Amino acid sequence: MRGRPGPGGGLPPLPPPGEGGPGGALPGGGARAGRPPLIELAGVTFGWKGGPPVLEDLWLRVEEGQMAALVGGNGAGKTTLLSLVMGLIRPRAGTVSVFGRPMISERDFRQVRPRLGFVFQDADDQLFCPTVADDIAFGPLNLGASPDEAEAVVSEILDRLGLAALRDRVTHDLSGGEKRLVALGTVLALRPRMLILDEPTNFLDRKARARLLAILGELGLPRLVVSHDFGFLRETCTSFLELEGGRVRPLEVLP
Ligand SMILES: Nc1ncnc2c1ncn2[C@@H]1O[C@H](COP(=O)(O)OP(=O)(O)OP(=O)(O)O)[C@@H](O)[C@H]1O
Ligand SMILES: [Mg+2]
Repeated sequence: MRGRPGPGGGLPPLPPPGEGGPGGALPGGGARAGRPPLIELAGVTFGWKGGPPVLEDLWLRVEEGQMAALVGGNGAGKTTLLSLVMGLIRPRAGTVSVFGRPMISERDFRQVRPRLGFVFQDADDQLFCPTVADDIAFGPLNLGASPDEAEAVVSEILDRLGLAALRDRVTHDLSGGEKRLVALGTVLALRPRMLILDEPTNFLDRKARARLLAILGELGLPRLVVSHDFGFLRETCTSFLELEGGRVRPLEVLP
């Protein structure tokens, strides 16, 4: 399945550094000043291909301003959970709500996907244009930007990520780490309201990891980050959740 969202309208600027700020510990609760949660899973159950449930009666909230880490063992269902949030799969029971709206149909998900800022575990699922510039321009063009506007977004994003030298490279030929940063660029080009990152430090060397840390600090966007890299999570998140036995529970601190 391709990760690129469909039309959603408009391209407001990226938030200035720090906006949205650290959210403090809000493990799965605590509405913020009456604003609906960015993401809410209520009593969600899901199993693959009629098999036993991977997620069962799962409850999760990510609030406006929250920077949430989600940890769990291999096969616990973290990527499955994110796929449900993105509407790539549908729950057997329970509801998924995004930006305060229950997601019923593919049309509902199409409207919110561009704003969810989802970076796949495997960058190859997200990159499919001939060049890096084409890949980053794809989303804005799809949202109705003119070629000149899309070009300006490409330059801004490549500069921001320190990837200007990759602009005309063939995406397919990039290294794993380069692909991951370009995948983040394709998502930032859509001006997301939050970021959903699945194993963002996979394939990144120390320099690229440090760059990603700096970018996330600068963006200050609310986030849900899945990772086994606890050091990275401590630096980028302020609340911690664990997925185990098909359910999410809050963690006071990372072990
Ligand atoms: N497309 C699929 N078809 C069938 N089973 C799947 C599919 N994707 C995942 N699974 C199964 O669902 C369970 C949860 O997988 P998932 O990829 O969500 O785990 P994860 O927590 O993301 O693990 P990891 O830390 O290794 O990325 C696993 O048992 C996995 O084998
Ligand atoms: Mg996974």
